[in-house]
Amino acid sequence: METKDQQSTPLTRRDFLVYALSVSGALGAVGLLAPIARYAFPTVKAEAAVRVRVASTSELTPLAKVVDFDYQDIPCTLLQLEDGTYVGLSRVCTHLGCIIKWQPDDARFFCPCHAGVSSPTGEVLAGPPPSPLPTLKLALEGEDIWVEGWSSS
Ligand code: FES
Repeated sequence: METKDQQSTPLTRRDFLVYALSVSGALGAVGLLAPIARYAFPTVKAEAAVRVRVASTSELTPLAKVVDFDYQDIPCTLLQLEDGTYVGLSRVCTHLGCIIKWQPDDARFFCPCHAGVSSPTGEVLAGPPPSPLPTLKLALEGEDIWVEGWSSS
């Protein structure tokens, strides 16, 4: 036998609105926090390193002709420095994730979103990017240049 306290009461309009607003507020908070969390924990994936041939040395010239490619679904660039060594970098800006472009006339990477500028080795030279561009581990075998994983995140 149910007591008076145990009897279910019909949901009032006020209770329904409080419940609905609470649920939509919680969903809105998740929608706001997800991009902030993604910004705080950047985009380099913790996937197992995969060895991939990305270019031939003949495709590159020092600080001029570069090779763009995707590694683990991340846009990257391979370039040759003036001393002849090769560098592989993520082209995802460490500020808000825009895709940066190599500018051979200025020998720099440029982010069109907020004018971030990075050196050929990925160091931040100007603008808001908070950290250098993640770099790739490279291996040279004859004329083939291979990517073997990330060397920084
Ligand atoms: Fe690159 Fe803001 S996203 S500088």
